This record gives sequence, structure tokens and C-alpha cells, in this order.
Amino acid sequence: MCKEDIAQVTEIDREAFPTLWAPANYQHELQNRLAHYIVAYNEEKTVDEPNTEAVPEKHRSGLLSKVRQLFNHNRFFAPEVPPSGKQYIIGFAGFWIMAGEAHIINIAVREVYRLQGVGELLFISIIDMATELHAQLMTLEVRASNTAAQSLYYKYGFARVGLRRGYYSDVKEDATLMSAENITSASFQARLQQLKQAHSRKWGITLY
Ligand SMILES: CC(C)(COP(=O)(O)OP(=O)(O)OC[C@H]1O[C@@H](n2cnc3c(N)ncnc32)[C@H](O)[C@@H]1OP(=O)(O)O)[C@@H](O)C(=O)NCCC(=O)NCCS
Repeated sequence: MCKEDIAQVTEIDREAFPTLWAPANYQHELQNRLAHYIVAYNEEKTVDEPNTEAVPEKHRSGLLSKVRQLFNHNRFFAPEVPPSGKQYIIGFAGFWIMAGEAHIINIAVREVYRLQGVGELLFISIIDMATELHAQLMTLEVRASNTAAQSLYYKYGFARVGLRRGYYSDVKEDATLMSAENITSASFQARLQQLKQAHSRKWGITLY
């Protein structure tokens, strides 16, 4: 595992969820065999470069991110991954897998890198990983007010299946439960392929 990733992932978590008491303990997650995390990183930037408010022009052109797994078990992506530690992480996603269910724990993208296809890239990647790990069902909770994330999930065929009242204790906000059933079905996979191709055409990212 790459310990250096944890600091950046925690930073992204804090930025994305500022009202939470504390970000998840990613050191703990590292020990959790049920957990699978990936990160997207900017190929053209390193952690040593000074932070800038806006994404530099050179980073906007084409897309910049690649996905690799944060933790060191079950490697799926980017076999040519360069040694980590210096890569500038721009987003991450993670899920737990149990008994055929992949439960998405988190997905977040650095604010200045949003609306550039990175969240979708991460989402596609975790669906693929869950499929490889023989999950049939994917589930998640999302704040009722988080229409950006919900829109991403609806796009990929997730449906609203329930509500947990006051689930988010910071502001007592309800959680919307969403799920996608039969993710290995021909119809789900065919739709996924179409969306992947559309994403790849739009953002110029090829995962494999
Ligand atoms: C949700 C999040 C990960 C999306 O990442 P992103 O890189 O900005 O998203 P993308 O550019 O890949 O967009 C993919 C899809 O998401 C949806 N989406 C993303 N941002 C949106 C917005 N501001 N409004 C509406 N839909 C949005 C759209 O469906 C979009 O598809 P489209 O381009 O065909 O419209 C990002 O907004 C984020 O990090 N939010 C804070 C953390 C968070 O709320 N995580 C969810 C926890 S459940």
C-alpha cells in the first residue's frame, strides 16, 4: 500500500465533506479486506508542484487522470502504474464488498477538477471492479440534497430504493438509498459499455 496516498485522500475527503466531524480513517480501511479503493491522479502534475487555485491550462486539455487502486490487493487497473508517492491525486472512490453486494462508501473529486469527467471515470471503475468481484448488487447512501451525485448514479441506472431519515448527523439530513440490481446482466452491461464509450469520446480517457 501507498501510505502517501492517504494524506491526499483525506484532504479531498475533508474538502468534499466539510461538515463531517472527521474524515474516514483510511489507515483503518487499508487493513479492511472487504474494502477496495481507487484513486484518479493527474499524470502531468506532482505533489511537489505549488498549489494553484485554478487548474492550469495544460491540465485541462485532454484528460489527465488515470485510475489506480489505492490499496494493494486485487489490482485491476493500470498495470504500468508508475511508482506512487508523488502523483497528484484528484479524486478517489471506495466500496466494501460482502455477499454479492458492493456498497459504495465514498466518491469525491477535488473541487477544481470537478465537471471534467473524473467522478464518472471513478464510478465506471468501481462498477467494473464490483463486477469482477462477482457482485450482483450495488448500493449506496447519498444526501437527499446532493443532486450532483444523484445525477451521476441515475445516469448509470441506479434507482432510488429508500430513505433513511436524519442519517447524516451533522445537519440531520436524510439519506437517499440507491441501488443497481443485476449489474452482471446483459442489459446493465450493454448500457455500461455505451456510457463508457460516450465518456471516453467526450473526455479522451481510455481506461484499458
Ligand atoms: C459527485 C462528484 C464525485 C462528481 O464528480 P465530477 O468529476 O464533478 O463529475 P463528472 O464531471 O464526472 O460528471 C459525471 C456526471 O455526474 C453528474 N453531475 C456531476 N456534477 C453535477 C452537477 N454539478 N450537477 C448535476 N449533475 C452533475 C452528471 O450526471 C454528469 O454527467 P453529464 O456530464 O453527462 O451531465 C463531485 O461532485 C464531488 O466530489 N462531490 C463532493 C463529494 C460527494 O458529494 N460525493 C458523493 C457522496 S454520495
